[in-house]
Amino acid sequence: MSKVIAIDGPSGAGKSSVSRLVGERLQMLHVDSGALYRIYTWQALVKGVDTANPAAVAAFAPKVTIECRPEHGAIVYYVGGELPGNRIRTPEINAHASQVATVKEVRDAVTALLRSLVKFGDLVVEGRDITTAVFPDSPYRFYLTASAEARARRRQKEEVEKGIANQSEEAVKASLLARDRIDSTRKYAPLKKADGVTEIDSSDLTLEQVVGLVLEAVR
Ligand code: DC
Repeated sequence: MSKVIAIDGPSGAGKSSVSRLVGERLQMLHVDSGALYRIYTWQALVKGVDTANPAAVAAFAPKVTIECRPEHGAIVYYVGGELPGNRIRTPEINAHASQVATVKEVRDAVTALLRSLVKFGDLVVEGRDITTAVFPDSPYRFYLTASAEARARRRQKEEVEKGIANQSEEAVKASLLARDRIDSTRKYAPLKKADGVTEIDSSDLTLEQVVGLVLEAVR
């Protein structure tokens, strides 16, 4: 049976960098579940679906087809044969993704897709409900967090480095706190620290230190 390391936490806590490195070190595939919610959001916006209308989003959800392939140590998503790339990383997608992620039909589709990925091998899956809803029985479960300031600082830098946006740290902080609020108060599979998970606060830790803590706990 495939092994799954599950990592949850709020936006900007460092889940992607940590998961990618842990996957590399342990030869496990990195799975970014947030990208799937971003793809649903992107497709809804492209097709003119009102993302604030849960019924409209629910009706649209079955029309989205995502192909998953393991490539270079990660699961890569294709939509209509294309890689979404930075089109799912814009401030516009940030602003709508949490709404889309509240919709049960979207969550059920993403959860089923994520569970099916074990066919590709051992996984490091990051998200908001991986430890609580998608793979709650995994023995390797982590809750990665950091102060809002540290998270905003990292996200702002990342957006500039990747040429996605050039917002102030304050604007980035407001946007991620707004998303956290929706993600942790929604009805279905809200972000929360599950019982029995290993909590890591990365505010004052380097990436290598966090990766070290995860590897130590897994071993
Ligand atoms: O991690 P991210 O910022 O790429 O996530 C995008 C959105 O999807 C965010 O609002 C949280 C939501 N999400 C979720 O509800 N469940 C997950 N497992 C992953 C992300």
